[in-house]
Amino acid sequence: MASAVDAAKQSRCPFHTQKTVSSVEATWWPNKLDLKGLPKTQHATANDIASYKEKFLKLDLGEVKKDIEGIMTSSQKWWPADYGHYGPFFVRMAWHAAGTYRTFDGRGGSGTGNLRFAPLNSWPDNGNLDKARRLLWPIKKKYGESLSWGDLMILTGNVAIESMGLETFGFAGGRVDIWEPEADVYWGPEKKWLAAERGGLGDKLDQPLGAVQMGLIYVNPEGPGGNPDPLQAAHDIRTTFSRMAMNDEETVALIAGGHTFGKAHGAADPGAHVGPEPEGARIHEQGFGWTSTYKSGVGADAITSGLEGAWTDNPTKWDNGYFDTLFKYEWEQTKSPAGATQWIPTDKEVNSVPDAHLEGVSHAPIMFTTDLALKMDPTYLEVSKNFHENPDVFATAFKKAWFKLTHRDLGPVSRCLGGLVPPAQIWQDPVPSFDSSTKIEDADVTELKAAALEKCSVVQLVKTAWASASSYRSTDHRGGANGGRIRLEPQSSWKVNDPEDLKVVLTALEEVQGTFNGKGDKKVSMADLIVLAGNGAVEAAANAAGNDVTVPFVAGRTDASAEETDVASFSVLEPTSDGFRNYLGMSQPNSPQDMGATAEALLVDRAHMLGLSKGEMSVLVGGMRTIGANAGGSSNGILTSNVGQLSNDFFVNLCDMSTAWTPSAELTQVEEIFTGTDRETGEEKWKATRVDLIFGSNSELRAIAEFYASDDCKGKFVEDFVAAWNKVMMNDRFDVVA
Ligand code: HEM
Repeated sequence: MASAVDAAKQSRCPFHTQKTVSSVEATWWPNKLDLKGLPKTQHATANDIASYKEKFLKLDLGEVKKDIEGIMTSSQKWWPADYGHYGPFFVRMAWHAAGTYRTFDGRGGSGTGNLRFAPLNSWPDNGNLDKARRLLWPIKKKYGESLSWGDLMILTGNVAIESMGLETFGFAGGRVDIWEPEADVYWGPEKKWLAAERGGLGDKLDQPLGAVQMGLIYVNPEGPGGNPDPLQAAHDIRTTFSRMAMNDEETVALIAGGHTFGKAHGAADPGAHVGPEPEGARIHEQGFGWTSTYKSGVGADAITSGLEGAWTDNPTKWDNGYFDTLFKYEWEQTKSPAGATQWIPTDKEVNSVPDAHLEGVSHAPIMFTTDLALKMDPTYLEVSKNFHENPDVFATAFKKAWFKLTHRDLGPVSRCLGGLVPPAQIWQDPVPSFDSSTKIEDADVTELKAAALEKCSVVQLVKTAWASASSYRSTDHRGGANGGRIRLEPQSSWKVNDPEDLKVVLTALEEVQGTFNGKGDKKVSMADLIVLAGNGAVEAAANAAGNDVTVPFVAGRTDASAEETDVASFSVLEPTSDGFRNYLGMSQPNSPQDMGATAEALLVDRAHMLGLSKGEMSVLVGGMRTIGANAGGSSNGILTSNVGQLSNDFFVNLCDMSTAWTPSAELTQVEEIFTGTDRETGEEKWKATRVDLIFGSNSELRAIAEFYASDDCKGKFVEDFVAAWNKVMMNDRFDVVA
C-alpha cells in the first residue's frame, strides 16, 4: 500500500527526478526520433569549461562583433529583415534565451544554449526564433568550438543593441553548450500550451516556476488568460519578473527598452496558416518550424505571436520613442489581423510608424496590454515617468538590467570570460581578490587543522564546512565556500545550519584565525579555515576508524563583507532540505516539498546542485551519517555504534538482513520515520528517514550500497568519500578548476 506521504505527493515537483523529460516529449512529439538507445554524446568538442575557456580566450571579440554586425543588415530572402535590420529580432532571441532563468533553483537562462532543444525550441513564445539562429549559422560555423551557441546568442543581442545606437554595459563569455535537452529541468505541466488557445490559454503555472503560463517566457501580452486588463497584467509581470530577481525599475527598463525596438508579427490567423513547431515539423523542413502558408509567409506576411505592429516611429534606433508614444496617446482596444487583442491610439489620424517592408505604407503605433501596465500600475507609472523625463537614467537602467538579465545565470565574475567583462555587480556575489603573497603553506595547514580540532569536535567542524560549501548550486554557480558567507546573514541563520551551534564553531575558528594571522606574514581567511578545519575533521574521523588519509586542500578563498552580500538575493539559496544532513524543512506553501517532491527526490536534486554522481552522493550520505553530521542532532540514519568515525557502517547495517524496517507511527508533517528492529528479538535498533532507506530500496542505489558494504571496500569507501568531499569543497573554485 502506498504510504500517506506517497499518496500526498503529486507530480508538481519543480525538477525532473520523478518524471522523465522523454515522457513529456513523447506526448508532444510522438514521431520524434528516440536517441536514448545510444550512449550520451561524447563530442571531441569543447564540452567542459576548461577547454572552452582556452579556445574562447583566443578569440578576437572585436572581429567576432564585426562579423555579427555584418549579418545584422544582410537581409535574407528566406526570412527578410524588418526595416532591413535584424537587430530587434536578435534582441528578442537573446531575451528569450536568458529569460527562462528562475532564482529559486537557478535553473534556466542562456548558460547552456538550451534554446536549441525541445521543449524550448518549440515553445509558442519562441516562435520563429529558429530563423534567428539560422541567420547566425555562418558565424557559428566560422568560430566553431571557440564560440558556444550560448555565448553567441547573448553577444549577438549586445551587438544588435549597439548597432541600433546604445552602448552596452559589457559582455562575458563562458557558457558551455549542452548537446541534448537538460534532463533535470521541469518547465511546467506540458499539457496545454498557449498557442493552443490564444485568448483562452493554457495552464496557470505555479510559483516558483519562471513563467505564468506554459509556453510563455513570462506573461501573456494580451493580459492574464487573454483578459486585456493592464492592472492584472501588471500583477503577473511583477510576479514573474521578481522570480528572476528583477525589481520594478529593472522590469520597466527591460520591457520599455526591449520594445523600443522592432515589431510584432500577426499578418493573419495563425490557426489557419501556421504549421507545426520545429520539433514536430516534417523532415524536409530541416528543423524549421511554424512554416506559414499565408501569402509569402515571410516579411510583411509573417505570423509569429499573432499581435501586429511596432511601438515606436523608428524601431531600429535606441531612443525615447517608447515612452513618447505611451504617454502621448490615449489607447483603445483593437484586434490584430490575426485576431489578438492589442491597443492603438484613440486618435485615428495617428499614422507615424513606417511599414517594415512596404515603401510608402505606414501604420498607427501599437501597445500590448502588458505595455499599458507600465502606465496604469501606479508604481510602474512613477518609474516610467522618471525614465521618460530622464532618457539618460532610462538608458543606464536598461543597460544594467540587460547585463543582469543576460548574465545572471553565469555565476560569479571568476566564471566570466573575455575582455569585455565589466566590474563585479552585487548580484554576482563578489568576493575580494586573493593576495597570494600571504598564502599559507603545508606546515601552516597542519598547524591550523590541529588548532581547530583542539577547540571543536569532529562533527562540529564537518557540519560547518559542509554548511559552507554545500550552499553551492551548479545551475547558476552561486553559493559555495568562497567568500565565507556562512559568517554573514542570511546564511548564518538558516535553520539547516543549526545557527546556535554554528555561532560557537565560528567564534572558535575566529580565535584560531586571530592567533595565526597575528604571528607573521601568512594569513588565513575564515573561508579557507572553515574548509581546512572540515578537512582535518574528516581525516580525524577516518583515522579513528583505522584509515590514514589526507584530504587535499588549496588555499585562496577570501572573506566577503556584509556590504558585498545582497541578503535578499542570497536568501533564495537557503536549502529547504538537505538529505546529506538528513534535514527536511517544514513544507512551506510552494516549496518543492509542497509541490510534491519526496525527501529522496530532494536529495537527488541537492546532489545535482553539487554536481555529484550517484556514487558520490551515496558515499557522502553514508560517511556523513557515521560521522554523525545530521542537522538538529537527530539520530535518524546514524546506523553505527561508532559515531564520529568515518566508516562504511551505514551501508553494512542497511544491508544487514537481521534488521526489519517498518514505517513508524510518528508521521510528522513532512517526514516519514522508519524503525529498524531485530527480526529475532523485536528489539528496536535504528531510526531512519526515507533518505536513508532509499539506499536499500532503490535497485540502483542498493547496488552502490552493497558495493560499499562489502568487506573488501572499507578502504575504498574512505578514499571515495574523501574525493567526493573534496569535490564539494572545491565546487566554486573556478580560479583553480578553470
Ligand atoms: C511583459 C513582458 C513582455 C512581453 C509580454 C513581450 C511580448 C512580446 C511579443 C508578443 C512580441 C512580438 C513577437 C512577434 O510577433 O514577433 C515581442 C517582441 C519583442 N520583444 Fe517583447 N515582451 C516582453 C518583454 C520584453 C523584454 C524584457 C525584451 C527585451 C529586453 C523584449 C524585447 C522584444 C523585442 C526586441 C521584440 C521585437 C522583435 C522583432 O522585431 O522581431 N520584450 N515581445
